[in-house]
Amino acid sequence: MFPKSSVRQFSSSAASAYKVTVLGAAGGIGQPLSLLMKLNHKVTNLALYDLRLGKGVATDISHIPTNSTVEGYGPEDDGLAKALKDADVVLIPAGVPRKPGMTRDDLFNTNASIVRDLAKAAAVNAPKAALLIISNPVNSTVPIVSEVLKEKGVYNPKKLFGVTTLDVLRSSRFLSQVVGTDPTTETVTVVGGHSGVTIVPLLSQTKHKDLPKEKYDALVHRIQFGGDEVVQAKNGAGSATLSMAQAGARMAGSVLKGLAGETDITEPTYIDSPLFKSEGVDFFSSRVTLGPEGVKEVHPLGTISTAEEEMIKVAKETLIKNIKKGVDFVKANP
Ligand code: NAI
Repeated sequence: MFPKSSVRQFSSSAASAYKVTVLGAAGGIGQPLSLLMKLNHKVTNLALYDLRLGKGVATDISHIPTNSTVEGYGPEDDGLAKALKDADVVLIPAGVPRKPGMTRDDLFNTNASIVRDLAKAAAVNAPKAALLIISNPVNSTVPIVSEVLKEKGVYNPKKLFGVTTLDVLRSSRFLSQVVGTDPTTETVTVVGGHSGVTIVPLLSQTKHKDLPKEKYDALVHRIQFGGDEVVQAKNGAGSATLSMAQAGARMAGSVLKGLAGETDITEPTYIDSPLFKSEGVDFFSSRVTLGPEGVKEVHPLGTISTAEEEMIKVAKETLIKNIKKGVDFVKANP
C-alpha cells in the first residue's frame, strides 16, 4: 500500500477536489479565465459570480465535458455568499479596466470599494481560501484585502496573492522577440509590483544578461508599459483580457498544484512579504514557492545588476505610497 500522502499526490480524484470561485466572471477577463479554469482537471466545482450574466456564462461553460460542476450566481438570492461558500481558491477580476491615457492608479476610486466588499464576503464564506487578486491597481487592492481580512480576524498572509503573472508572460514573449528565441524557453523573474516603474524584470538572471544598453532599456520599458499597448489598441474598449486570463489561469493552476502537494511549484507573485518589511514595504512581488498551505517559501532576489538595484529602489518608493493608499482607504471606509 502507498502511504496516504503519496496516494493523494498521484490519485486523480482525492488530490483534485477543489472548489474555485471567480468573482467578476462575466467580464473581459472573467469569461476566458472561467473557461480556462473549466479545463483545469484539479477543479471539481467552479462557481461563477458577477453582477450580470453570471448564470449565462456558467450555463455556457457547463456544457464543456470536463469533470467539474459549474454554478452561476448573480447578486440576488445571496448569490455572492453561495458562490464563495467553502471555496479553496477565489479569483477576483471584478472591477473596471483602463481606458487610453489612464494609469492603473486612476482605477482606485471605483475598484477599491468593489474589492473591499468582495473581500468581506470572502472573509465570511471562504475564510480559508487562497485569494488571487487581479483587479487593479493590484499594488493597492492586495493591501485592501489584507486589511479587510485582518479586521474580520481571518487574515492568512500565506493565502493572499496579487496576480502579476501577466508581467512574467510578457517578459518571456518580449525578450524572445528581441533575442530571437522560442518564448517557451525564456523564463524571467519579475519582482516589485504590478504597475509601470514598480514592474522590475530581472533580466540579468536570464541567459541574455549582456543585451546592448539601447535594446535593454527599450525591453524594460516595453515590459513595464506593455499593458498600454493593449489599452491603446483596444481604443477605449478595455485592457488586456485574453493574455490576462491565461496569466490568471497559470497562477491559479500553480496555487492548486501547491495545495495538492506537488513540489517545486514557483511563481513570482505580489504578497505580504518579509523581503523589504524593515524598509516599510509590506507587500512585494518576488519568486515564491507554493505549497499545501499557500506560500511555502519567499525567495530572496538573488544577485542582481546595478540597473536592477536602481529600479528596485524606485519601485519600493512607489509601492510604499500605493500600499498606504490601500490601507488608508479601508481605515477611512471600513
Ligand atoms: P470588465 O469590465 O470587462 O469586467 C469586469 C467585470 O466585473 C464585469 O463583468 C462587471 O460586471 C464585474 N463586476 C463589477 N463590479 C462587481 C462586483 N461588485 N461584483 C462582481 N462583479 C463585479 O473588465 P476586465 O477587462 O475584465 O478587467 C477587470 C479588472 O482586471 C480591471 O480592474 C483591470 O484593470 C484588471 N486587470 C488586471 C490585470 C493584472 O495583470 N492583474 C491585467 C488586466 C486587467
